[in-house]
Amino acid sequence: MIPLKGSSSWTSCFVALTAVSFLITPAVSVKHANFKTCEQSGFCKRNRLFADAADSLGSEWQSGYALDPSSIKLTGGQFTGNILKSIVGLEEKIVLPLTVSFLESGVARVTLDEEKRLKGEIELRHDSKARKERYNEAEKWAIVGGLQLSTSAAINKEAEQGTTRVLYGPAGSFEAVIKHSPFSVDFKRDGTTQIKFSERGLLSMEHWRPQIEKPAPPEVKEGEEAPPPPAEDPDKPVYDESTWWDESFGGNTDSKPRGPESVGLDITFPGYEHVYGIPSHASSLSLKETRGGDGQYSEPYRLYNSDVFEYEMDSPMTLYGAIPLMHAHRKDSTVAIFWLNAAETWVDITKSKSTANPLSLGIGSHTDTRTHWFSESGLLDVFVFLGPTPKDITQKYGELTGYTQLPQSFAIAYHQCRWNYVSDNDVIDVDRKFDKHKIPYDVIWLDIEYTQEKKYFTWDPMTFANPIKMHDHLDKKDRKLVAIIDPHIKNTDNYPVVEELKKKELAVKNKEGNIYEGWCWPGSSHWIDCFNPAAITWWKTLFKYEKFAGTAPNTFIWNDMNEPSVFNGPETTMPKDNLHHGNWEHRDVHNINGMTFVNATYQAMVERKRGEQRRPFVLTRSFYAGSQRLGAMWTGDNQANWDHLAASIPMVLSQGIGGFPFAGADVGGFFGNPEKDLLTRWYQAGIFYPFMRGHAHIDTRRREPYLAGEPYTGIISQALRLRYALLPAWYTAFHQASVDGSPIVRPNFFVHPTDDKGFAIDDQLYLGDTGLLAKPVTKEGADSVDIYIADDEPYYDYFDYTIYLGKGTKTIKAPLEKIPLLMQGGHIIPRRDRPRRSSGLMRYDPYTLVLVLDKEGNAQGTLYVDDGDSFDYISGGYIHRNFEYSSATSTLQSTDLNPDPNAKGSKTAAYLKTMSSVTVEKILIISAPKEWKQRTQVSISEEGVKDSLKKRTVELTYHEGSKGQANWAVVRKPDLSIGKGWKIDFGGTE
Ligand code: NOJ
Repeated sequence: MIPLKGSSSWTSCFVALTAVSFLITPAVSVKHANFKTCEQSGFCKRNRLFADAADSLGSEWQSGYALDPSSIKLTGGQFTGNILKSIVGLEEKIVLPLTVSFLESGVARVTLDEEKRLKGEIELRHDSKARKERYNEAEKWAIVGGLQLSTSAAINKEAEQGTTRVLYGPAGSFEAVIKHSPFSVDFKRDGTTQIKFSERGLLSMEHWRPQIEKPAPPEVKEGEEAPPPPAEDPDKPVYDESTWWDESFGGNTDSKPRGPESVGLDITFPGYEHVYGIPSHASSLSLKETRGGDGQYSEPYRLYNSDVFEYEMDSPMTLYGAIPLMHAHRKDSTVAIFWLNAAETWVDITKSKSTANPLSLGIGSHTDTRTHWFSESGLLDVFVFLGPTPKDITQKYGELTGYTQLPQSFAIAYHQCRWNYVSDNDVIDVDRKFDKHKIPYDVIWLDIEYTQEKKYFTWDPMTFANPIKMHDHLDKKDRKLVAIIDPHIKNTDNYPVVEELKKKELAVKNKEGNIYEGWCWPGSSHWIDCFNPAAITWWKTLFKYEKFAGTAPNTFIWNDMNEPSVFNGPETTMPKDNLHHGNWEHRDVHNINGMTFVNATYQAMVERKRGEQRRPFVLTRSFYAGSQRLGAMWTGDNQANWDHLAASIPMVLSQGIGGFPFAGADVGGFFGNPEKDLLTRWYQAGIFYPFMRGHAHIDTRRREPYLAGEPYTGIISQALRLRYALLPAWYTAFHQASVDGSPIVRPNFFVHPTDDKGFAIDDQLYLGDTGLLAKPVTKEGADSVDIYIADDEPYYDYFDYTIYLGKGTKTIKAPLEKIPLLMQGGHIIPRRDRPRRSSGLMRYDPYTLVLVLDKEGNAQGTLYVDDGDSFDYISGGYIHRNFEYSSATSTLQSTDLNPDPNAKGSKTAAYLKTMSSVTVEKILIISAPKEWKQRTQVSISEEGVKDSLKKRTVELTYHEGSKGQANWAVVRKPDLSIGKGWKIDFGGTE
């Protein structure tokens, strides 16, 4: 501390007070008044009232929606027909064209439109220029494949009167039972109903109608009862017409030129107790009930991408991104639905337990989960997945919306960010300090202050006078820089970017069709409309090296505030009656908006320079289904407290289940100053986020790991070193996600789908297929954790090989320096153990293989490796090996997972050459058989020239574990080429 010269007692008291107040993290909490509750969102309220009316009438409830039997047909895997909606007191029926598509993949898709809007036979109010149709382009943004229709879907002739049954899916084992009147669909797998549409009769599509001045409702005199609500129609005035024609909130009025237009449907999962997904919420992985009750929510889960400043814990409130994918899970079965709608959406969840026989003591009892979905506008468009495994869901969903981008390899290492590193010299200084303290990191980030007056694509000349020098400095250590670029463009003079935006008319428009103006970081701003292909074309030009001067090949991009965040807009976003390309209202596309911006940036980064083909890295705050194809996400502005640390685990797990697994939370917490133990624990947890970045608000104190002091800095460095050592395992898990949609970190239910005790567990995670099971410490002062083991494989402590046997909860000691991490028997984990300053510098480092033997003494694992930067992997520039240890033969073998060179591509040979000197330098065998005590060597055969196998021997050392620890053995310097086939013989079983 700097001594205070001649300080009076008053000044020292003032200084002390200031110091104390600096230490205290101010209590922050979300401003509820800024965001709608269901009651304040017109269509949410109407749909809930509708549900209440239906549920209270039970079997007497009559849905007004019936399929016209004369209209139905099944051709080429598509079932079509018209649903007729009846309205009490009206002859006319509303025609709603229905399509049920049976896809080759076994997924079914139910789409419902509205004839009048489809044909444009409606009138818009206020001379609106908005489109008349229901928004039907969500598919264009979210879906990239898997829509091929099934040729084998066929009508089941055994259907009862008034029902059409369609057999589809693998070997016709799926069935859609379409009941005509009232309309409902049951989806069956192997004869058992898994998912029910409109079982409760809550299907609803608010049809177009002209605005008519209605007579005032009859007065109800005191003592008289109000007339009962006619129950057939959700849009009956009695259900609250007040928000049909306009809706005000927080001083903004939505003009709603098309009137009420919500869509809703109840979806029941019979026999399923757990539902997961629909990120992002600061909630548990297993979703809670939403209609009140002990420990449950009373608000539905909301999906309306928003900049929720200081968001709160354990809440169904909306956050920055939305993926309307929900898994339902029970022992031995997982099914799912994907609600393809980009408008504001709410989901109610209730569960009901039923017992087949009251005397059966719970045997035969089961829980049904009933969900109710409603969106403000757009089509009703729902995909149905019948599993039966969680992997089937993530794979099929990925086939539709795309798999996770295979990232730049640096992107899965550690990122250092804060708002803000204040100058190029500051960046260089931080970088040097990481090196001085031998702490690895790959990327340093620049938040908004690097720009000149928040004008993106500029540098503040006072503070970032020489950005190229800064980039060069980083590049010497293979480090990168990420610069933020937001979608709001400063509305100011002498700024070519905004001038072009205006001149080319590429900005979002207001309801009158003029350029929309709102407030964000730069003050008055306009928003690029990335729904417009011309806007994407223009955006690409801005990222060219010559245009965005001061950037280099090691610059990558962060897209923030893309919900979009508008400080003076309704619910901190854009007015819903704003207009996008094609005259779609913002209301229709809101949840997709953020993704379109990242899409434009992604494309711009691919085309930064002619001939330069590098994988982009773009971080986004806002996202939708499909965003996984474009980069990473983080969970936004969390807080430096233990609750937020704990919440980050289920949130990250939920992202994986929602198909967007490249996810992380701000390490250390964005708002506030973490105590050192919290910061340390956060790093220890953060190494298990697929995306790992330390970040902090501009008002916080600096907290780079080297500032914490000992023992904290040392402990944090160890955690980071562990992340770096395991990067080969992480990259392999990312590769898997990029080809089959598997989550990168996985919850218990996903890994052990039959173990019902683990279905609600969301505070521990498995890393890919590696068998690594982590349970981060997220409680203040905790020096142990309870970890749940779901199977009867042996588990071993990662660091000291302590054995944990048997299913159930185990307590692991976890003093501050300890990361609770177990290895499940049966796996081979690839590592790189040489400490380096960045992951790029590890590119040609040798590998360590950790064999963790299962109860039979076997183990298996994989390794995927490529250049981590280009698209060469698409042409075969990669190595993908399978490692298998068999106790029967006592051999470890490395085989090519894609041995057919033609199936790989032209780049295979060149890549193998680049990697020819990269070897396996160490093999660790955990739980090595006792017989090996006598052994001192193993023999090795390696694929040599012309595939002949030449043999040599290498030393084996055996170590007896002390009490409670596994025995282990090590083979040093086998020097086996990572790209070749080889075999190690551990000497048989004599
Ligand atoms: C909001 C983001 O969530 C935060 O991470 C960032 O630091 C600020 N915007 C400033 O850009």
